[in-house]
Amino acid sequence: MSLTVENVQNALKSVIDPNTGKDLISTKSAKNIKVDGSDVSLDVVLGYPAKSQIDLIRKLVIDALKQIPGMGNVSANVTMVIVAHSVQRGVKLLPNVKNIIAVSSGKGGVGKSTTAVNLALALAAEGAQVGILDADIYGPSQPTMLGVRGRPETIVENTLEPLKGHGLQVMSIGFLIDEDNPMVWRGPMATSAMEQLLQQTNWQNLDYLIVDMPPGTGDIQLTLSQKVPVTGAIVVTTPQDIALIDAKKGLKMFEKVGIPILGIVENMSIYVCPNCNHQEHIFGQGGGQKMCEQYGVNFLGSLPLNLSIRQDADSGKPTVAADPDGAISAIYKTIARKIAIQVADMSKDMTSKFPSIVVTNQ
Ligand SMILES: Nc1ncnc2c1ncn2[C@@H]1O[C@H](COP(=O)(O)OP(=O)(O)O)[C@@H](O)[C@H]1O
Ligand SMILES: [Mg+2]
Ligand SMILES: [Zn+2]
Repeated sequence: MSLTVENVQNALKSVIDPNTGKDLISTKSAKNIKVDGSDVSLDVVLGYPAKSQIDLIRKLVIDALKQIPGMGNVSANVTMVIVAHSVQRGVKLLPNVKNIIAVSSGKGGVGKSTTAVNLALALAAEGAQVGILDADIYGPSQPTMLGVRGRPETIVENTLEPLKGHGLQVMSIGFLIDEDNPMVWRGPMATSAMEQLLQQTNWQNLDYLIVDMPPGTGDIQLTLSQKVPVTGAIVVTTPQDIALIDAKKGLKMFEKVGIPILGIVENMSIYVCPNCNHQEHIFGQGGGQKMCEQYGVNFLGSLPLNLSIRQDADSGKPTVAADPDGAISAIYKTIARKIAIQVADMSKDMTSKFPSIVVTNQ
């Protein structure tokens, strides 16, 4: 009995990608299956950045196919392809940015910027092209967190070149204004400044652009959520009840403008004493999770209140860059992967594929 493509497909139905929890056939990840006598070759295409997962998935595929009687050589080429996904109705995607992820919070000081930059670095570490737009006009902090200084250059007329920090393309209002003399922004001025930064930055072929939104749910935030082509939003909160009330307002705002919520990250969830390792829920326990159940959104994970998170971010090298293989980075990377997998599952943007149809009366 000779080997068929169907034999291979059947075996692949039992190969579960541990990240998506789905098999490689139902996700259409297995492509280009070729049988040559007793040898098999195939491509496995993952829709999320997964550099650290490639060897693991290749091994799962090979082990499963080797179970088939008479199987010879198996060659599995695992790659990733990140595509653009659709955004709110009536808003156009940026030409060089596939997916925009907004990171917001109901109020300031909850660790939104720290979370945004570490998630951006985590996506980049997994092989994606990632940018970060610091849209927090009240307190631009990405220049400090990424240790990036200087003024953006203009090479192409009317555009700004993003600066580079730890492999990320970075744009911040902080590059253009004097940080020691914060400006007083009127709403329309603030939103048009942000729109310009978004549209006129010469982003280069980004898989993901992380937008560090201004905190809160006022007019500026609402206008930005209507104008920025967002694929999905993340809300960062601390576990206290008052923070959660504000976070709920954030969820409502995105709902109102039709932006899917990718989930909630709880920051400063638990304090682990460095001396005796005892754990303390300083700001309460389980609030984020409860809120997620109540609103039917994903709980993406929680970060501890941890001295090195603060020191790393404040010194210009966030934890995912400073200690990429540490326990804290592992949490950020897990959250980043959950986000990317959800984005991969969302409906694809077709606006760039279809020609616009013009109907004329003749
Ligand atoms: N999990 C954490 N553990 C300890 N410090 C943190 C943590 N997350 C953020 N911080 C620190 O808290 C401060 C506020 O964080 P930041 O990200 O600037 O908040 P936001 O952007 O929400 O205003 C910063 O000094 C940051 O380094
Ligand atoms: Mg901030
Ligand atoms: Zn102690």
